[in-house]
Amino acid sequence: MQNKQSIHGAWANRWMFILAATGSAVGLGNIWKFPYIAGENGGGAFVLVYLVCILLVGVPIMMAEVLVGRRGRQSPINSMREAAYEAGHHGRWAGVGWLGVLAGFLIFSFYSVVAGWVLYYIAGMGSGKFIGLGSDQAGQVFAALLEDPKTLLIWHTVFVVLVMMVIAGGVNKGLERATRVLMPLLFVLLFVLLGYSINSGYFSQGWDFLFHFKPEALTWEAVLVAMGHAFFTLSLGMGCIMAYGSYMGKKDSIGGTVLMIAGLDTLVALVAGLAIFPIVFGNQLDPGAGPGLMFITLPVAFSQMAGGQVFGFLFFLMVGFAAWTSAISLMEPGAAWLVEKLGVKRITAASILGFLVWALGLLALGSFNLTSDLLLFGMTAFDFLDFLTANIMLPLGGLLVAIFVGWYLPREMTEDELALRSSGIYLIWRFVLRYISPAAVAVVFALNLYQKLAG
Ligand code: PHE
Repeated sequence: MQNKQSIHGAWANRWMFILAATGSAVGLGNIWKFPYIAGENGGGAFVLVYLVCILLVGVPIMMAEVLVGRRGRQSPINSMREAAYEAGHHGRWAGVGWLGVLAGFLIFSFYSVVAGWVLYYIAGMGSGKFIGLGSDQAGQVFAALLEDPKTLLIWHTVFVVLVMMVIAGGVNKGLERATRVLMPLLFVLLFVLLGYSINSGYFSQGWDFLFHFKPEALTWEAVLVAMGHAFFTLSLGMGCIMAYGSYMGKKDSIGGTVLMIAGLDTLVALVAGLAIFPIVFGNQLDPGAGPGLMFITLPVAFSQMAGGQVFGFLFFLMVGFAAWTSAISLMEPGAAWLVEKLGVKRITAASILGFLVWALGLLALGSFNLTSDLLLFGMTAFDFLDFLTANIMLPLGGLLVAIFVGWYLPREMTEDELALRSSGIYLIWRFVLRYISPAAVAVVFALNLYQKLAG
């Protein structure tokens, strides 16, 4: 077994890796997106398909990413190259790392805008501005925010600075420190909110909405949505799990930790749904409000409930923490690469990346106001960035990692690095990674594109 260390540092222990990777996985995808797409796509049936996707595609590919990262002990670009060389292949596999760095960059630019909305709502809830808000007014508050580039710019900038401060601190003084504080808080807040919703008197309605098995509501498109979301929510296909894996202890089991991360991510998504829907039903609001659910429906609900101001504030604070730890992971592959390539300090790498990503974010930000007329393939810059990354770049990155690790790395190398307890489990993993995951991703990838292009 190789025993290299990363020049960037190492997690203090196995739990730090689990918490940091969970911090990456748990984000806007879990709290904002998962509840409403599950509700819209057949509830229980959708949840089942989603769980299958996590197990058959997410977990095996996540193990593959961690494996390459820990083997290479460098940024995804250089770890991919190292692993390819070690197996006697061409260094152009580093391109998968490049794709990832670029995807992280593009995702960040619109993620930061949404995170900026969250910050605005934290401030709004905290200052009591949203007390006694009716539905119409809540819609107006959100619309007014989108139309106001100055306010959006302020919060987008604040978010970029928050993330880059952590990146500048490096693995131990930045990432690990943020993880230690934010992740326990996130879990506490989530369960406080769950307790609140259990006591709301509408818990069973929320539960039914999410878990009631309605097979007729499950469409082929819902399967596509479930698969795409499995990728996004586990932060796969763009190298951040690979980067985090490169700071992992040599003796820690990759299989066990990955199962734990995927389990925690799923748990947070389900609990977020169970915290949100009873509140929505308790206030006779529409659960199918889609993307507006979190920014329009929920503020109305909170503004009308006893203690709503406090719990609304805590809710958005939790979403902000979740978005923060995810955004950090979006920047880590690029930051690690800059440090390796240019030999610069972390703070320099963070400043360069921060500026670039801030500037790109202006394009996403302007999609709602100044540059809303600027369309790329019929989409605003914001929607285009979302489509390009979630539907093309992440599945492509995941597919390439599965092919690389499953077909190009020799069996001894992956078996040695995974060090699974039984060779039976190893064989199952290898089989799924070679055949099932790539086939599933390829089909979904192709269908997604076809649907989009066909109109
Ligand atoms: N997993 C994060 C979420 O659910 C988003 C993300 C995607 C983060 C890809 C890093 C990489 O919000």
